[in-house]
Amino acid sequence: MSRHIQLTEHGKLKHFLTIEGLDKALLTEILVTAESFAGVSEHQVKKVPLLRGKTIVNLFFENSTRTRTTFELAATRLSADVLSMNIATSATSKGESLLDTIHNLEAMHVDMFVVRHAISGAAHFIAQHTAPHISVINAGDGQHAHPTQAMLDMFTIRQYKKQFEGLKIAIVGDILHSRVARSQILALNTLGVSEVRVIAPKTLLPAHVKNMGVIPLYDMAEGLSDVDVVIMLRLQKERMNSAFLPSESEFFRCYGLTEAKLALAKSDAIVMHPGPINRGVEIASSVADGPQSVILQQVSNGIAVRMAIMTMTLGHQGGTS
Ligand code: CP
Repeated sequence: MSRHIQLTEHGKLKHFLTIEGLDKALLTEILVTAESFAGVSEHQVKKVPLLRGKTIVNLFFENSTRTRTTFELAATRLSADVLSMNIATSATSKGESLLDTIHNLEAMHVDMFVVRHAISGAAHFIAQHTAPHISVINAGDGQHAHPTQAMLDMFTIRQYKKQFEGLKIAIVGDILHSRVARSQILALNTLGVSEVRVIAPKTLLPAHVKNMGVIPLYDMAEGLSDVDVVIMLRLQKERMNSAFLPSESEFFRCYGLTEAKLALAKSDAIVMHPGPINRGVEIASSVADGPQSVILQQVSNGIAVRMAIMTMTLGHQGGTS
């Protein structure tokens, strides 16, 4: 996906579609801007007026709990007007095309589309065809990208580990079908971590995975040894078109994160998961709810990071803590 469509001629964010092509300075600017918004959720009045008068439309063609609600809260806390379309009851069910839906919403003078879609490239397609003043944010497209999730994960890693240099990070589970993993790997490498490992059975790793800038490993004992961060992924059964595993219980035995396996990582390692978690499939409850888990902190951080990306794409900088 080309760099130019999501950047203005001055190198500022116009859309946020993918991590690909964004440099370390821009990713760092997102993290710093998000820090300036982190305190807003703690205020008695959880609002800043930065996007007053702007209209943001959430278009979720796929299910979501965390992403849709944190985008909605982020927009509300920036004082924007937010419309979350219920796709199931929209005219899409009567055969209206995606572009006709977009053009009809444009006619209502909206300023931003936040798009989740099962088809890879859907947000990019909308960005190419929408009116020039409208920004598009990708909230997850097929197996391709989930860039705001990756940025809230980077924010969380920086919060706990202070810097990216020197970190060893393991991403475990269904890498093959994961848009989150693809975006995380791009962001981690751009931000300069020392080592990104992916741990999975061969059937759940993409072909040519080494070209993604990661070390593929098939064994948890080897893969988790001495890591600073463990990122668990769920099995994305909705994107599996054949049998990739003997059984879920066998997957948990080999790749599920238990307290015993986590003990192989550094003693201060943090455990992350983008959610939704499947307890007893990729992660034990004792780990998901344990002292090293920062899974719910990731969700909280999603609001500040999405506030940052919304303000940056709409041409406003910085917030207030
Ligand atoms: N992490 C994530 O994308 O979760 P949702 O599907 O609930 O938005």
